Amino acid sequence: MRPFQSPHVLLIAAVLWVLPTAVFATSWKPTIILVPGSFHRSIVYNEVVSGLRRAQFNRIYPIDLPSNGNDIHDREPDINAVRKPLERALAAGQDVVLVGNSYGATVIGDALKDFKSDAVSATRDSKQTRGRGKVLGVVMVSSPCSSTSLFVWKKHIIPNANRLAIQLAGFIPYISEVEHPETKLDARTVAPPLFRFDNNSRVWSDGDPNLSAAQAFYNLLPPHESQYWASKLTFASFNAMNATARYIPYTGDFNCLYVVGLQDKSIPVAWAQTFFGQPGARFQVINLDADHVMMLSKPTEVVNIIRQVAGS
Ligand SMILES: *[C@@H]1O[C@H](CO)[C@@H](O)[C@H](O)[C@H]1NC(C)=O
Ligand SMILES: *[C@@H]1O[C@H](CO)[C@@H](O)[C@H](O)[C@H]1NC(C)=O
Ligand SMILES: *[C@@H]1O[C@H](CO)[C@@H](O)[C@H](O)[C@H]1NC(C)=O
Repeated sequence: MRPFQSPHVLLIAAVLWVLPTAVFATSWKPTIILVPGSFHRSIVYNEVVSGLRRAQFNRIYPIDLPSNGNDIHDREPDINAVRKPLERALAAGQDVVLVGNSYGATVIGDALKDFKSDAVSATRDSKQTRGRGKVLGVVMVSSPCSSTSLFVWKKHIIPNANRLAIQLAGFIPYISEVEHPETKLDARTVAPPLFRFDNNSRVWSDGDPNLSAAQAFYNLLPPHESQYWASKLTFASFNAMNATARYIPYTGDFNCLYVVGLQDKSIPVAWAQTFFGQPGARFQVINLDADHVMMLSKPTEVVNIIRQVAGS
C-alpha cells in the first residue's frame, strides 16, 4: 500500500506551515528608530540592533545625524533624518517606537511635531486607524537638559557645577522654551567645560582637562573600550545644538518613557528630577544602573525596555 504522503510532500507541507508563521511572527513587530546623541554616530547602537534582531525585530533604523561630523546651518537636516523613516513606516501601516539618547531625544521631539494624530496617546486610548501605523512610544535615554535647565541648575541648584561634567548636548527642551523661545539662552554661555567651541561653529567634547570624554560618556566600560569609543567621537554642529525646539512630545500627546542612568556623569540624576517636575510633563521613568551611553554598557537592558514599549 502506498504511504499517504511521501517525505517530500511532508517537507513541503512543513515549509508551507512554517513560512507564514515566521512571517507573521515578525510582521507585527514595530519599526524601531534609534537616534544617537551629539558627537556620536549610529554605530553606538550596534549591540542594541543585534539584540533587537535576535528578538525578531526586522525593521530597525539606526540614524546618523547630519549634525555630527558635518557643518550644517540648523537642526532641519537632523529632523529630516528621523522624519523620513518615521513617515515611511507610518504610511506603510507599521507601528513605530522611537529611541533617542541625549540630544537625539530632542531631535525626535521635533520630528514628531507633524505626527500627533499618529500617536498612541499617553492620556487616552486611541483606536488603531486602518492602513496607518501608530507611534507606540518614545524612549528618551539620559536626555534631561536644555540650555535653560542647565542655566538654572548651574546657578541655583549646585553652585560649583563647573566641576561636574554637564552634557549640554543631552537636551530635551523644557516646555517653557518652546512656549517662550525668547527665554532660551545661547549654548555658549551655559556650556560645561567638557564642551569646546571652535571658530568654525564646531563643538568638541574634549574641553575639560579634568574629565575626558571617555570618562564623561562611558564610565562603566573597561578602559580599553571607553578609549576605543572616545576615538570614534566627532564634532557636533553648533547651529544644530543651539537651535530652539519646535515641539514638546511629553505633555500627553505621546507615550514618553525616560530612562535615567544612575551613574551618568554627563547628566546628573538631580537634574533629571527637576526636569520631571515641570507642570504638565508626563513621563514614565525607569532608573537603570547605567552611564550616559547605556546602549554600549547596558545593551540587554536597553533592548528589554524597547521590547516592553513595543509590546504595549
Ligand atoms: C543661539 O541661540 C540663542 C537663543 O535662541 C540665540 O540668541 C543666539 O543668537 C544663537 N547663537 C548663535 C551663535 O547663533
Ligand atoms: C577665533 O579666531 C580668532 C581670530 O583668529 C582668535 O583670536 C580666537 O582666539 C579664536 N577663538 C577660538 C575659540 O578659537
Ligand atoms: C580642573 O581641576 C583643577 C584642580 O581641582 C581646577 O583648578 C580647575 O579649575 C579644573 N578645570 C576645569 C576646567 O574644571
